[in-house]
Amino acid sequence: MDRQLVTQGAEGRVYVGDWLNHSVIIKQRFSKKYRHVDLDTHITQERIKAEARALTRCRSLGIRTPAVYDVNFDKREIILENITNSITVRNYIYAAVERDLSMDNREILSLAEKIGKVLAKMHSNHIIHGDLTTSNMLLIQPYESSEVILIDFGLSSVEERAEDKAVDLYVLERAVLSTHPNTEAFVSCCISAYKKAGSNAAEDVVKRLDEVRTRGRKKLCFG
Ligand SMILES: Nc1ncnc2c1ncn2[C@@H]1O[C@H](COP(=O)(O)OP(=O)(O)OP(=O)(O)O)[C@@H](O)[C@H]1O
Ligand SMILES: [Mg+2]
Repeated sequence: MDRQLVTQGAEGRVYVGDWLNHSVIIKQRFSKKYRHVDLDTHITQERIKAEARALTRCRSLGIRTPAVYDVNFDKREIILENITNSITVRNYIYAAVERDLSMDNREILSLAEKIGKVLAKMHSNHIIHGDLTTSNMLLIQPYESSEVILIDFGLSSVEERAEDKAVDLYVLERAVLSTHPNTEAFVSCCISAYKKAGSNAAEDVVKRLDEVRTRGRKKLCFG
């Protein structure tokens, strides 16, 4: 299969290619030489399985995610639908800054609201993403009216506890605030949309988030 490298991260490489006449994304995970080979194979397979399961589960719930076409444990690969004409939320926000949009602009806050809503739906089905960042969300053209498409579920899990959901949101909050300056309003808009879209359980998660934040701050102070 012809493939071109898109990105190379710490965990693996992402290629774009053609597969049975579909434009696809191939995610290949590295083997970690410092890990025992059996453990390494096991961890890699668990990540690939977690990714395939969560992507499929989200899709069946009506949450936009790439379709899963194939998994190959020997090659450490997963083959996904390529979401063409897409941009990461990260790059979308960077582009908005270039356009001199302020971070409490309607367009930006409407995006925050969409993110809160989709995460409420995901969590109400007990799917924990595990790596919520603005690079792991895509928008398709026209971006302003796009749904939020979730990707990169290799660290995902299924958990019912409010604690796990709160930590998921905390990871996002930290990621947004450290990647994008002046996004306090963006983050609170995201959280209030999450609370509004979810049931009572979502309120418990947001309460829990406060505790997680306090723990996070203590950890920063005392190591
Ligand atoms: N299905 C897809 N369609 C279009 N672009 C994609 C798709 N999947 C990934 N990408 C692009 O490739 C980038 C990296 O993909 P992804 O986040 O899944 O891998 P990663 O961050 O390397 O994974 P890991 O967290 O396991 O290291 C994304 O930020 C996005 O720009
Ligand atoms: Mg990623």
